[in-house]
Amino acid sequence: MIIIKTPQEIEKIRKACRIVAQILEKLKGFIRANMTTADIEDFIVKEIKERGGKPAFKGYRGYPANACISVNDVVIHGIPSKNKKVKDGDIVGVDIGVYLDGYFGDGAYTYQIGRIDDRAARLLKVTEEALYKGIEKAVVGNRISDISYTIQRYVEDNGFSVVRNFVGHGIGTSLHEEPQVPNFGKAGQGCRIREGMTLAIEPMVNEGKSEVKVLSDGWTAVTQDGSLSAHFEHTIAVTKNGPEILTKTE
Ligand code: MF3
Ligand code: CO
Repeated sequence: MIIIKTPQEIEKIRKACRIVAQILEKLKGFIRANMTTADIEDFIVKEIKERGGKPAFKGYRGYPANACISVNDVVIHGIPSKNKKVKDGDIVGVDIGVYLDGYFGDGAYTYQIGRIDDRAARLLKVTEEALYKGIEKAVVGNRISDISYTIQRYVEDNGFSVVRNFVGHGIGTSLHEEPQVPNFGKAGQGCRIREGMTLAIEPMVNEGKSEVKVLSDGWTAVTQDGSLSAHFEHTIAVTKNGPEILTKTE
């Protein structure tokens, strides 16, 4: 069942999302070489708590940490570790979920450490652009798969591949609600987009092949071919005037 939100509910989701957005923005000036992914997690936890929120991922289906930090060939669900240092030339995906006053916000950004090579830079650019192109399709009367198709098309036209194993989702009083929002598929199929829907749209894009595997920790998803992977995510609300990105700073 797809839960349509009232303006009052969207305001609560907006508040949770604003915390996500502020921290993702602040991380641009914080993340640097030689820091561990646990240092990044600690920063995120402190920033969420200072704003009165609660990290949403800890304990979700048994997830053991407060954020997902996914370096290079890690697609998503990288578990922060004191033993994992980020280094010059790495790309680092950070996925943050915040719970505030009964509602969730969810967002992700992939950062570059120092200087990255041209192909990595293009991967980040194409993935972020694919997200925005998908968001543009989140308008009343379109179908969910119009978002999916647009993302896949843009990514593949640029020579990269979209991950099939994980999808975007509805969000509200639960972190994951219906509908699923895949990053692939045919246009014009599936349910219609309606005013009051809140969606987390999150393309995961691989430099090489689309296949992923999950490591023995049960979470860390890596590309099978060892190529780089990028992830960008926004939570949006569908309004009669078009999509509103909720995970953005003022
Ligand atoms: N943004 C991801 C998602 O929506 C993060 C979930 S991590 C988990 O699926 F630990 F909570 F599963
Ligand atoms: Co999500």
